[in-house]
Amino acid sequence: MKSLFSGLLLALLAGHATAAADGPILIKFSHVVADDTPKGQGALLFKKLVEERLGEQVRVEVYPNSSLYGDGDELQALLNNEVQLLAPSLSKFSQYTPKLQVFDLPFLFDDLDAVNRFQKRAKGRQLLSSMEKSDITGLAYWHNGMKQLSATQPLQKPSAAAGLAFRIQSSPVLESQFQNLGAKAVKLPFADTLQALRSGTVQGTENSWSNLYSQQYAPVQPYMVESNHGVLDYMLVTNSTFWYSLSHSVRIELDAIIDEVTYTVNRAAEAQNREARERLAASGQVTLVSLSAQEREAWRQAMQPVWQQFEGEIGSDIIHAAKQVNRRSN
Ligand code: LMR
Repeated sequence: MKSLFSGLLLALLAGHATAAADGPILIKFSHVVADDTPKGQGALLFKKLVEERLGEQVRVEVYPNSSLYGDGDELQALLNNEVQLLAPSLSKFSQYTPKLQVFDLPFLFDDLDAVNRFQKRAKGRQLLSSMEKSDITGLAYWHNGMKQLSATQPLQKPSAAAGLAFRIQSSPVLESQFQNLGAKAVKLPFADTLQALRSGTVQGTENSWSNLYSQQYAPVQPYMVESNHGVLDYMLVTNSTFWYSLSHSVRIELDAIIDEVTYTVNRAAEAQNREARERLAASGQVTLVSLSAQEREAWRQAMQPVWQQFEGEIGSDIIHAAKQVNRRSN
């Protein structure tokens, strides 16, 4: 019964994906951020290149700002083939694989170049297929940038975070990271965060400069700490059944477009975050707090116990490979 059902489902999806006679294949690309961010720009570039090169055969619709699906339902929508492309943050996959939690470990990567090196090496590339059992294929890693802390207070020292509530993405590692500071971690969809900061339900958060800026947190987060304590990157994912039902020639062309878009997104992300940081600094609404080497070390020590806590789940081989990419340890 089950195999009859999955056979029918496959036929349905395959029919859907190869319906050139009835018009182009539709790829819906849903995401939760603004157009004017690394991921937002990547989605629009993908649409443009597909239109130019495969216009007759494939049509792309991009839905930014959680306008179609949000954090709570987008992965289920992908599994239902209601959207065909997503690029969730790597912190949002723990339900499908514990291994990607490596990216959430605080103070693991020195900078975005180190993250890039890990993603290109064998262990990092293998993680793209870590969710195949759930019918999710990873197509590429897209960068956003390093995470900074923001709050209603300066947070020069980790002890200042105790007692505050921080909005986090739905990641057990991030939850534990804030609990280690004596803070409360509140899992909230990205789309609900500004309202929670405004109402005072949470007093702090962590994100990349481009998200802190484009979500207009400045009026309610007067202090932003240049902590670079973690990374916010994405995996471009598709529904495997959908993807492998595409004709070989269309898939090869889409793969080539994705390679090109990935290169552009990853080259531009750092500059986009730098610009967002400068705009925040110039806004007059935010004090940028920088940390001395000693203060940064205090944050590292306060957060790092989560490494040990999650080593078994993530795999010590993966953590070891990730540690190797920092220049200091090369
Ligand atoms: C967040 O929820 O803070 C981020 O994952 C949003 C995003 O997609 O950049």
